[in-house]
Amino acid sequence: MITTTAPGKVYLFGEHAVVYNQPAMASAINKRIKIELEERSDKEILIHPNDLSFKEISFEYSEDGFKLKNKLKRSFPSLEYIKTAIDLIKREIRDNSGFEINITSELPPAGGLGSSAALTVSLIAALNKFYGLNFDKREIANKSYKIEKEVQGGASPCDTFTSAMGGITKVIPGETLTKKEKMDLPIVVGSTRQESSTSKLVKKVKKLKIENSEIIDPLIDDIGKITLKGEKALENRKLRKVGQLMDINQGILDALNVSNLKLSELIYSTRKVGAWGSKLTGAGGGGCMVALGDRKEEIKNAIKVRDGEVIADQITAKGVEVR
Ligand code: MEV
Repeated sequence: MITTTAPGKVYLFGEHAVVYNQPAMASAINKRIKIELEERSDKEILIHPNDLSFKEISFEYSEDGFKLKNKLKRSFPSLEYIKTAIDLIKREIRDNSGFEINITSELPPAGGLGSSAALTVSLIAALNKFYGLNFDKREIANKSYKIEKEVQGGASPCDTFTSAMGGITKVIPGETLTKKEKMDLPIVVGSTRQESSTSKLVKKVKKLKIENSEIIDPLIDDIGKITLKGEKALENRKLRKVGQLMDINQGILDALNVSNLKLSELIYSTRKVGAWGSKLTGAGGGGCMVALGDRKEEIKNAIKVRDGEVIADQITAKGVEVR
C-alpha cells in the first residue's frame, strides 16, 4: 500500500490579483488530504472518496479513457481532478493496471483552502510512487497545476505549488515560485461553513475589472504591492506590520466584492479580540478566513461564537509526503 498526504493552504496576500500575474504569498496549513493506493489484480480503478460524500466509484480504463461502472446520482466535483490526474499519468506511461484509491480529507471542500490542489498533489505523488516515475516535488506541483488548469479552465500555480512544497511560499505567475525557509506564523483559520465556487468568483472579478478597469486595475496592482511589502515584513518578523497589510488586503478584496457578511463577521470579531490582521483566504464568497495573532484561544472563541468553525491553527513546513 502506498500512502501520500498533502496539505491545504491559506493565502496571506494576493488571491485574485495572482490571476492577473501579481505576486502572492501563501502558507501550507496543518490539515491534509490523504490518499491510500493499492494495486489490484484486474484492470479496475476503484475510488473510495469517504468524506467527500460518495461511497465508491469504479472505472475501467482503456486507450479511450475511463468507463464509469456505477451510476452517480449527482455530480462530484473532486472526481474531475481524480479522473484528469489518472488520465494524464496513464497516457504518459501507457499502462492500464488497476488499483484502489482511498481518500480521506481534513479540509472542507469548496472552502478556499486548496482542497482540490491537495487532492491532486497527493494523488499525483501516489501515482508517481506506484509507477516509479521519480518526479520531484516541483514536478509533482507542475503536473498538478496542469490538472487544476484543465479542470477549472484557469488557475494560478499558487495552490498546487504550496501544497507540494509546504511552508510559506511566494508565487509570481510565469516567473518564480519560491519556498521561504524557516518561517513560522501564529494563525487561526476559520470557516464560514458556506461553500463557494472559485470559478464563479474569478469571473465576477473579471467582469468588475472589465467594466471599471480605471478603478479596479490599480487596486489589483496595489494587492501586488501589499504582497511585496508583506514579504519584507515577514522576513523581518514584523508580524504586526504583516497583520496591518492583511487588513489592507482585505479592504481591497471587499472592494472587489468577494467578501460577504459571514466573512466580515468572523474577520471583524477576530480583530476585536486582538488579531494583528484578519482577512478572507482564497476566492471568498464564503469559505474561510485567516487571522494572525498570538491570542489564539480568544481568536478561536470569537470564530466559534459567531457560528464559524475553527479549521486549523498552525502552518506546516511539510509539503507532500509519501510513505
Ligand atoms: C483561489 O484559491 C485563489 C484565486 O486567486 C484563484 C487562483 O489563484 O486560481 C481566487
